[in-house]
Amino acid sequence: MASPVVETRGLGKVFRDFWGRPRVHALKGLDLGVEPGEVFGLLGPNGSGKSTTIKILLGLLHPTAGFAKVLGGSPREVKLKARIGYLPEESNFYPHLSAEETLSFFGSIFALPTQVIRRRTDELIHLVGLEGARRRLVGEFSKGMLRRIGLAQALINDPELLILDEPTAGLDPIGNREVKNLLVDLKRRGKTVLISSHLLADIEEVCDKVAILHEGQLRAFGAVDRLLADDQRTQITTRRLSPGTIEAVRALLDEREGADLKVEVGMPSTRLEEFFVRTVTSAKNEPAAGGKAQP
Ligand SMILES: Nc1ncnc2c1ncn2[C@@H]1O[C@H](COP(=O)(O)OP(=O)(O)OP(=O)(O)O)[C@@H](O)[C@H]1O
Ligand SMILES: [Mg+2]
Repeated sequence: MASPVVETRGLGKVFRDFWGRPRVHALKGLDLGVEPGEVFGLLGPNGSGKSTTIKILLGLLHPTAGFAKVLGGSPREVKLKARIGYLPEESNFYPHLSAEETLSFFGSIFALPTQVIRRRTDELIHLVGLEGARRRLVGEFSKGMLRRIGLAQALINDPELLILDEPTAGLDPIGNREVKNLLVDLKRRGKTVLISSHLLADIEEVCDKVAILHEGQLRAFGAVDRLLADDQRTQITTRRLSPGTIEAVRALLDEREGADLKVEVGMPSTRLEEFFVRTVTSAKNEPAAGGKAQP
């Protein structure tokens, strides 16, 4: 198997106060692995350590225990940064540059040839749906437009690994759909993507694997469909059934499985949301101990 694109072993981060005393244990022994070509979702409540993990992977913070490897090297290696695209939680752009000037500016930071910058600027402006605003100043952009230009900026160096902190936050439903399509398209082109998000329906739709953090610890890790699979229950999904058919099915189940069988009839729900709430609630009730690992 190819080596992981992102790997952390026993990763720990303690933030200290002014006097050097430990103040917050933001990460406690985190083991993560993201394989090439995967879209990976990092989930967890506010303050659970998602952004801290991302900042360590980008070399912006030092771990206080364990190690992190990105694209086979240390996150602090400068030459690796050219192969990573990053969308921060909140982007800050020069307000007096237009959308296309902003992308040219970031292209020049990566020392790309002028021809390449011009071509990629055109492609990316189209990709993120900002054609109508390419000459407008970024300082005038709405929240969703800023998210879009941020995504284009994260892609300007055609990165192998994309790290996106809440990519769909602030987008309207169409923008949200477009970003999800974009992520699926990037995956098809062999990119590896690490996303942190609170929008569980989005994560469920685009991610192959997820990790759920709680107070700096891994509480669940694995392929989305395997984590959500429940071998204690059987689910049959069809188009909407008539009340008569449902009654007939109930009678059959009574006859075959006994009258005490609990049968729920309803519409399918967002299962990752259910799973997330269950995981975080049980983490609150029984602290510490390892996560439910299902690679
Ligand atoms: N620079 C810092 N100094 C002190 N404590 C910090 C610092 N950065 C983060 N923390 C603490 O570390 C913990 C994890 O924070 P982090 O930003 O990683 O959470 P998060 O999962 O990204 O949350 P959110 O969903 O709100 O973005 C929190 O308790 C936070 O207060
Ligand atoms: Mg965060």
